[in-house]
Amino acid sequence: MSCFMDQLHSVGGKSKILNALLWCIFGFGVVKATTLLLRATALILDLFVLPSVNYSKYGAGKGKYCVVTGASDGIGKEFATQMARRKFNLILISRTLSKLEALQKELQGKYGIDVKILSIDVSHDVPENYVAVKELCQGLPITVLINNVGLSHNCPVPFLETEEQELRNIITINNTATLLFTQIITPTIIETAASSKCRGLVLTMGSFGGLLPTPLLATYSGSKAFLQSWSNALAGELKEANVDVELILSYLVTSAMSKVRRTSVMIPNPRNFVSSALSSVGRRCGAQERYATVTPYWSHALQHWFIEETVGVYSRIANAMNLKMHKSIRARYLRKKLREEKKQ
Ligand SMILES: NC(=O)c1ccc[n+]([C@@H]2O[C@H](COP(=O)([O-])OP(=O)(O)OC[C@H]3O[C@@H](n4cnc5c(N)ncnc54)[C@H](OP(=O)(O)O)[C@@H]3O)[C@@H](O)[C@H]2O)c1
Ligand SMILES: *[C@@H]1O[C@H](CO)[C@@H](O)[C@H](O)[C@H]1NC(C)=O
Ligand SMILES: *[C@@H]1O[C@H](CO)[C@@H](O)[C@H](O)[C@H]1NC(C)=O
Repeated sequence: MSCFMDQLHSVGGKSKILNALLWCIFGFGVVKATTLLLRATALILDLFVLPSVNYSKYGAGKGKYCVVTGASDGIGKEFATQMARRKFNLILISRTLSKLEALQKELQGKYGIDVKILSIDVSHDVPENYVAVKELCQGLPITVLINNVGLSHNCPVPFLETEEQELRNIITINNTATLLFTQIITPTIIETAASSKCRGLVLTMGSFGGLLPTPLLATYSGSKAFLQSWSNALAGELKEANVDVELILSYLVTSAMSKVRRTSVMIPNPRNFVSSALSSVGRRCGAQERYATVTPYWSHALQHWFIEETVGVYSRIANAMNLKMHKSIRARYLRKKLREEKKQ
């Protein structure tokens, strides 16, 4: 080390300014390298070392309720199932009644918990929907809300060609519904947390589509970025009320929405994705640089971390790569549609 400093000194020579500059660059490098090392360590600890989060702090096993939106399929259905396994009663909100009834029956039978269901279509922004939610939740000791309901574009599409109805649906389902559900249910969570001496939890499903500006999914991308800022701001507001607010980021997961059926290293099924999300609430995993945000699935986490530590999510390179990927997804979708039309 002292040898290195001697060298630095000799390069600088007699010029005081050059010497100071070299020291600044050296100091800056040390700070950068230390930060990188700390973040890498935290990433490894979060992903592979620390034990699963204990939900007794959120009232598990004490008759408390967890609300899940978009609960009848995919990721939401898994959130419901895995919270039932952690001994929470459930309030499941979604569109298709028959799917909700089947899930209610299954979870009540298997875990001996209470499951309430509500079927509403949140793409219609009508007050009756939210009155129904309020009535259902009235007087119940709710401690957890999982904002999962979501809609993406049918396939990647240039913004200027996006149909107005699709654009409105995305904003209504992803943003308006999430805001209103949270506003209706959170006061109950705060009350329950205070009276039962436990903590509350508000989780919201974000997406890599919001992390990285995504060409050909522009409206979805914007709607998810909206949720990132909103959720983080709310996290600050609710800290003193003992309510943890977290945004969960995810790259692709197999589901009806993503239209991906085969799992791979990068694409887990909903069960494994939700398992990673629920075990790491309160940690950042791949989202080391952002408050109240978690990228829980290990391969998504490594990808997020790598992009953030190299080119950055808002860079031209990331944007160009994303454009290329979504152009090819769109081309594949259009070819498949053409084949199916020819068959008929
Ligand atoms: N899958 C992915 O690759 C991925 C990646 C990143 C983020 N996410 C996010 O994860 C969340 C869940 O996605 P998913 O893949 O699990 O989707 P999914 O399998 O399509 O499930 C969506 C759920 O939302 C309900 N829903 C949809 N539109 C509704 C409406 N208008 N009113 C009421 N309920 C409605 C559906 O009910 P029905 O049973 O009636 O259909 C279903 O239960 C979304 O927020 C999505 O943005 C997904
Ligand atoms: C969770 O925490 C509670 C109380 O702090 C404790 O009784 C329980 O054994 C813990 N559960 C696990 C799986 O560690
Ligand atoms: C809508 O929100 C859900 C989760 O809340 C998310 O998975 C989905 O990607 C979002 N879709 C759009 C178009 O923003």
